[in-house]
Amino acid sequence: MSTIAIYSLKGGVGKTTLTVNLAWCAATLSSRRTLLWDLDPQAASSFLLSNRAAGTKPREQAQSVFAKDVEPEKLIEQTAVARLDLLAADASLRGLDLLFHELDKKKRLQKLLVGLRKNYDRVLLDCPPGLTETSDQVMRAADLIVVPVIPSPLSERALAEVVKHLGAKVEVMPVHSMVDRRRKLHADAIARHPDWPVIPMASQVEQVTVRREAVGSFAPRSAGAQAFASLWQAIERRLAA
Ligand SMILES: Nc1ncnc2c1ncn2[C@@H]1O[C@H](COP(=O)(O)OP(=O)(O)O)[C@@H](O)[C@H]1O
Ligand SMILES: [Mg+2]
Repeated sequence: MSTIAIYSLKGGVGKTTLTVNLAWCAATLSSRRTLLWDLDPQAASSFLLSNRAAGTKPREQAQSVFAKDVEPEKLIEQTAVARLDLLAADASLRGLDLLFHELDKKKRLQKLLVGLRKNYDRVLLDCPPGLTETSDQVMRAADLIVVPVIPSPLSERALAEVVKHLGAKVEVMPVHSMVDRRRKLHADAIARHPDWPVIPMASQVEQVTVRREAVGSFAPRSAGAQAFASLWQAIERRLAA
């Protein structure tokens, strides 16, 4: 089992969009038994993928997995996508940093992931923004950190900050996100980092939030779907190396 965290210091850079679409690629294109674990109390991935009807959702339980009174398996749900399961977030995760701090267990997330090994080949973590106790747990637990970067000098600075914080502890894969090649700033950034994968700014990708499914399932030939598929292949290659 490999764990891939989709992480950034910043909000609104495409973390959730990447996580949902890459998880779909893992489950569908690579036939991996895949779990999307939503760690962000905003619960955007959970909203996009959860099949549970309102009223049948467990209430404010996401944090109980970390407090250790509930097994992750109890909260995991199937999605409409074959081989893709979801461990949903909810508002209880707002207290996660404090909980990790109080528990003083630096490897709690890592240990929980070990327990999921028999059931999953790939776990994708949709992370909340910021350098926090939660992100420290994520960095210790993940095999690869995918960092969406909207092309701009400020985003590159934020990425440098993360890389500095990590030292050489874990592999980081920056990805240019929401790219519009007609914009000079974007074209310049891509020229500076021609080896970073690119996800284009595209209305089909935006539609993911409306249709609540991965772009690969409703527009498989679109530029967005192709970009997620080739990014996923690059991730698989990196994990195999
Ligand atoms: N490649 C893209 N093309 C068009 N819209 C995008 C793209 N990536 C993300 N978005 C939109 O940008 C907004 C923020 O993306 P989101 O994935 O929620 O970011 P984050 O999880 O980092 O906060 C969402 O409305 C999403 O639909
Ligand atoms: Mg998000």
